[in-house]
Amino acid sequence: MLDKKIAELLNEQVNKELYSAYLYLDFANYFEDEGLEGFAHWYEIQAQEERDHAFMIRRYLIDSGHRVTFGEIAKPDKVFKNHLSPLEAGLEHEKYVTSLITTIYAEAFAAKDFKTMQFLDWFVKEQGEEEKNADDLIKKMKLFGSEPKGLYMLNQELAARVYSAPSSAE
Ligand code: FEO
Repeated sequence: MLDKKIAELLNEQVNKELYSAYLYLDFANYFEDEGLEGFAHWYEIQAQEERDHAFMIRRYLIDSGHRVTFGEIAKPDKVFKNHLSPLEAGLEHEKYVTSLITTIYAEAFAAKDFKTMQFLDWFVKEQGEEEKNADDLIKKMKLFGSEPKGLYMLNQELAARVYSAPSSAE
C-alpha cells in the first residue's frame, strides 16, 4: 500500500491526465475548424498519449492495492485568438503538469517511497520531452506559420506524427 497522501495525489493525477487529453482534443477541434488537419492530427495523438498516462497511473494505483475514484473532468475553457494560441496554451499546460509530477515526486521522496519514485521517473522524463515538443512547435510556428506556404508545410509535417504506446504502458 502507498502512503495515503501519495495515493490521493496519484488519484488526482489520473483526473489531470484525462483533463489533458480532453484539452488537447479541444485543440484538435479548433484546428479541424480552421482547416488545419495536420495540427488537429498532432493534437489527437497528444490526447491519446495523455489518456495513456491516465491509464498508467490508474494501473499503478490498482496494482499497489488502491481503489481508484473519479471526479469530474473540467471543461476546456481556452479561447484561441490565432493559430499560435493553442500552442502556447499547450506549453503552459505542460509546465503545470510538470509541477504536479514534481509535487508527487517530492512527496514520494519524503516518504522514502522508492517504488513510486521509480514509477514517476518515466513521467519526469516524459514531461521534459513534452515541454520540448511544445516549445519546438511554438518556434516553428513563429518562423514559418505567418505565411500560407510555411503554414501549409508545417501542417503537412504535423500530419505525419505517428502514435506509439509508451513502453511502460504496453
Ligand atoms: Fe501527461 Fe502532457 O503530460
